[in-house]
Amino acid sequence: MKRILITGGAGFVGSNIAIELKTHLSGTDVVVLDNLYRKGSSLNVPRLEKQGIKFIKGDVRNPQDIATVGKIDFLIECSAEPSVLAGKDGDTDYLVQTNLYGAINCAEYCRKNNAGMIFLSTSRVYPIDPLVNCKLDEKTTRFELSDKQKVAGLSSKGVSEEFPMDGARSIYGATKYAAEVMLEEYRQAFSLPIVINRCGVIAGPWQFGKVDQGIAVYWLASHMFERPLKYIGFGGTGKQVRDMIHIDDLVKLVLMQLNDPAKFAKGVWNAGGGRDISVSLVELTEICHRITGKEVQIGSDLETRYADIPVYISDTRKLTSFCGWKPGKSVEKIIYDIHEWLKDNQEAQKLLKT
Ligand SMILES: NC(=O)c1ccc[n+]([C@@H]2O[C@H](COP(=O)([O-])OP(=O)(O)OC[C@H]3O[C@@H](n4cnc5c(N)ncnc54)[C@H](O)[C@@H]3O)[C@@H](O)[C@H]2O)c1
Repeated sequence: MKRILITGGAGFVGSNIAIELKTHLSGTDVVVLDNLYRKGSSLNVPRLEKQGIKFIKGDVRNPQDIATVGKIDFLIECSAEPSVLAGKDGDTDYLVQTNLYGAINCAEYCRKNNAGMIFLSTSRVYPIDPLVNCKLDEKTTRFELSDKQKVAGLSSKGVSEEFPMDGARSIYGATKYAAEVMLEEYRQAFSLPIVINRCGVIAGPWQFGKVDQGIAVYWLASHMFERPLKYIGFGGTGKQVRDMIHIDDLVKLVLMQLNDPAKFAKGVWNAGGGRDISVSLVELTEICHRITGKEVQIGSDLETRYADIPVYISDTRKLTSFCGWKPGKSVEKIIYDIHEWLKDNQEAQKLLKT
């Protein structure tokens, strides 16, 4: 592949993918387009340019901006307003225009260039009600998914691609699901190798985590800066669980898919840490305490927030049996790597303090 465009490439996921591609694919030109909407993304620009990656300030909502990139062979779409709460408390129009129309503009550009595409979708495409009402076992530090579920595609191994798709999923989740539906049509109508990954929580260095998005960094930074935290919803006990995937494990998958996109251009793929790489808030607090040596005051708020769910675990057995990919880095390693990055980076610390 000669030229790869990464939209949203100054963000957490995009910048890490861009740098790894530049390092691994010699002779490949990597170009990043980003409008720097996310606080912190501008700090990634010098990091990208130092690696010889071209940065273009542009907006995926605007096809003319994408066209300034010129001929491409592949596109990795990482741009988004990625916060679940943004749909309700934020700028819903921006969310829809970027996450849905932006993704369609990217697909349209791929069509014009006869290029392949990888789309970073989310576990949030799965409807909320069946996840709130599923059978849970309450353990000392976490909720566990019981094996006795009434819904297809749900077990103690997590949510699989068989999970029923009817019902509300948050406005954020709906923008990503609607984009998936359109991309599937582009894949079919124009025979384009378009790959769709539904990711659980992705975490690691260079993520500018905030209270509503990027929990691993937000929780760790709060410990470093001794900022009080809160367990919100589900009884206020901090037993809610998410799986986490280290950015390095996601990059490994993207490299595998780039090597043979046509092979992966069918259906959708759940990509996450799974039950083995998952954590509750209580457990995350303990890990952050161990790594920073600091303890913070933690309050509780009994009211569950809009679109929140008690447990999300990706069942990735389909992907693993298809290509052998499996995430390897533990939650402890994720938090350790974030701490190593943050303790030496004054600029990032300053930003995460505000
Ligand atoms: N981080 C996660 O836990 C997670 C989980 C599942 C899926 N995803 C998906 O992965 C992708 C990357 O997420 P991230 O964590 O890197 O988020 P991020 O906010 O760090 O990166 C997104 C980037 O998109 C840019 N952007 C926003 N609007 C834009 C626009 N209109 N035009 C051009 N650029 C724009 C932002 O400036 C930012 O740099 C997103 O599609 C997100 O939905 C992320």
